[in-house]
Amino acid sequence: MISGKNIVLGVTGSIAAYKAAEIASQLTQAGAKVNVIMTKAATEFITPLTFRSLTGRPVVTEMFDITSEMSVEHVALAQAADIVVIAPATANIIAKIAAGIADDMLCGTVLATKGPVIIAPAMNVNMYENPVTQENLSKLRARGFTIVGPASGWLACGETGMGRLADIDEIIGTIRQVLGRKGDLAGKRIVVTAGGTQEPLDPVRHISNRSSGKMGYALAEAARDRGAQVVLITAPTTLPKPVRTEVINVGTAQEMYEVIVIKKAVAQADALIMAAAVADYRPAKVSESKIKKVTDTLTMELERTPDILGTVEGSFIKVGFAAESENLIANARAKLLQKGLDLIVANDITAPDSGMGADTNQVVIIDRDGKVDELPLLPKREVADRVLDKVVELLNKR
Ligand code: CTP
Repeated sequence: MISGKNIVLGVTGSIAAYKAAEIASQLTQAGAKVNVIMTKAATEFITPLTFRSLTGRPVVTEMFDITSEMSVEHVALAQAADIVVIAPATANIIAKIAAGIADDMLCGTVLATKGPVIIAPAMNVNMYENPVTQENLSKLRARGFTIVGPASGWLACGETGMGRLADIDEIIGTIRQVLGRKGDLAGKRIVVTAGGTQEPLDPVRHISNRSSGKMGYALAEAARDRGAQVVLITAPTTLPKPVRTEVINVGTAQEMYEVIVIKKAVAQADALIMAAAVADYRPAKVSESKIKKVTDTLTMELERTPDILGTVEGSFIKVGFAAESENLIANARAKLLQKGLDLIVANDITAPDSGMGADTNQVVIIDRDGKVDELPLLPKREVADRVLDKVVELLNKR
């Protein structure tokens, strides 16, 4: 979503201005053309040269720069912008934008752009909580601006509270989501499951599997970046939660079953993509107290967990995953038929660098008509996009 985009990054006079350097760098690395506009106050905190070096592009600090090639610069930048991001945004710039003031390059650009605008506030907690700032932010939200953050925590003024610039990941994730709003999944609701469920034995132990959740999280982010409203139902993982998705945390297969089948988290969904490694068996009895090592051997009885994909009903597209160590295509096709799926994504777990825990995956996508699409080894994010291409195709046929 970011590659090739024209992004105006507005930097204002907050102590968090140094964090904008990281944003400029990440956006540039992702292939965006980043035009930084700094307010005069911002240049007191960080120099234009920093942004010039990171983006490889001129940095605008003056409203009327007679050396500029652009005729009416604030209008030119505003017209070219796919998105304007102000990070950090002070109470002052927020007030000026809310009031429609255009007395510097940044406010002028915001007033003149037809593109979406993201504002990441950063200021002292009392300034943030002041009703006038809150009122200004409400006004901007109502006008379609996206406000990200602020976060709560230690503030440079020595106080603790709301006012920290949102995490860089949250700002970049929001940029991706806003840029993707008109993507091929716009208006669609996609439910994705991820991670390996944990089936308790006693209060301190569980049975699980090696799933990292990376495939499911990549699917959730890719669907978000193509305009979908995403619900991620996740078993425990160590991954950061995807920004701007609805996340529902579950522990066991039974909990995932309850969210999906009983509470009908998929009722309004256009597609359910089950990337989670759901345990097929769980301990038949969970000990209330910690199991002590009093015998040489310990035998445990396991019982089947409910089959979520096999029982969930609805008119949404159903996508399953199959982890196989032999007869990949035949086994996956049998699962597709048995569970009544539209697509199955099969991977050979014996292949190197592929499947559980890896950052890459080599999969075969099989559809209901028996069409087999064998993909090369790809980063999971790319696999996610290829799976979503198929989902889009199926949705378009409906
Ligand atoms: N799945 C599910 N509910 C379960 C178990 C699995 O919905 N209780 C889903 C998984 O999320 C995955 C697909 O079903 O999308 C995998 O099917 P499954 O038959 O469980 O695959 P395996 O566990 O690989 O089956 P087997 O061990 O029999 O090969």
